[in-house]
Amino acid sequence: MDVMQVLHMNEGNGETSYAKNSMVQKKIMSIGKPIIEEAVLDFYCTNSPERFGIADLGCSSGPNTLLLVSEIMDTVCRKCCQMGCPPPEFLVFLNDLPLNDYNTLFRSLPAFYNTLKEDKGSGVGPCFVAGVPGSFYGRLFPRKSLHFVHSSSSLHWLSQVPPGLDSKTCPPLNKGKLFISKTSPPGVLSAYALQFQQDFTSFLNSRSEEIVPGGRMVLSFMGRRTTDPSTEKNCHQWEFLAQALQNMVIEGIVEEEKLDRFNAPYYAPSGEEIKAAIEREGSFMVDRLDILEVEWDGGSCNNQARNGMLIDHNLNGAHRVVKTIRAVVESMLANHFGREIMDELFRRYSHIVTDYMSTNRTTYDNVIVSMTRKSY
Ligand SMILES: C[S@@+](CC[C@H](N)C(=O)[O-])C[C@H]1O[C@@H](n2cnc3c(N)ncnc32)[C@H](O)[C@@H]1O
Repeated sequence: MDVMQVLHMNEGNGETSYAKNSMVQKKIMSIGKPIIEEAVLDFYCTNSPERFGIADLGCSSGPNTLLLVSEIMDTVCRKCCQMGCPPPEFLVFLNDLPLNDYNTLFRSLPAFYNTLKEDKGSGVGPCFVAGVPGSFYGRLFPRKSLHFVHSSSSLHWLSQVPPGLDSKTCPPLNKGKLFISKTSPPGVLSAYALQFQQDFTSFLNSRSEEIVPGGRMVLSFMGRRTTDPSTEKNCHQWEFLAQALQNMVIEGIVEEEKLDRFNAPYYAPSGEEIKAAIEREGSFMVDRLDILEVEWDGGSCNNQARNGMLIDHNLNGAHRVVKTIRAVVESMLANHFGREIMDELFRRYSHIVTDYMSTNRTTYDNVIVSMTRKSY
């Protein structure tokens, strides 16, 4: 699979779009907000640049896209006001893969500029927004042009399916599965771990060139608390999709070989794997690393409501979870299995998720790591 040519969130503003189905990612952003604020304020203790370069990596399109950029600008302007200095000019770079829905994103910019003017008036410096299509696993920006880099819900996507899994080995290494699972042989686990290490190192290497000494980076993405990547919690969504596809293989709707040949370019690392990679690469100092739990449906299902309402909550929650996952993974699955089976696949997946959510508490682990570019 050529990830650059295949991966994109569902475009537009329609029912199945990412824009309409990204509540859990919004929740993840709101959890990370205080950590971002802390990093910006800390940066301003020792720096006050005339021009402040911000990059949002894996920005997608929709209501989440400019949310944290606005927060970062807000925090900078408040701090400048406190210090009695003029706010900087903001250069905002919105990055994603080339197939991202930049049209919808650019159409939302006039409203963003208007809100800035109305809400902040002259309290905010001039702001210049640019789209930067390309992979964040390589260089995207000029040397020392960024003061703050942020990325949310994106770095769990690998640059490629780990080699060996994507090749036409016979028999297939990860038969009947889409990702690491309890039945995957150890070679599958190590191939994924190695791909993450290589990708994350390339990411850090590229950012180390682009971020000014003392500049900050806050990254938030799917992770895990356990050292074992094959725990149920880490694999549920891929496991459920695989179950739905296995049923379709049995009924002759999907070819068995097609299922055996698909592996997701995804990995949720442990805190230790992340720290080890940052230390080994050497350009950044970890200021803090937190692993936080987020409900599958973005936290709107209130598990304390232990009455008849709970069933409704869970049903609605499952419906939202399925739409969220579909908005994210459909481009990849449709490319491999064919667009024509997507409705049926997600109908079956929906039954499995609804059934599971009716009796289980369902959360993801999300890592937030805040770091500083070393000055040497
Ligand atoms: C789930 S969306 C997150 C969007 C937004 N940050 C949010 O939190 O709502 C993940 C985004 O990461 C992008 N992405 C994945 N791999 C990427 C890469 N190598 N370079 C740039 N963007 C990438 C995807 O295209 C997608 O738009």
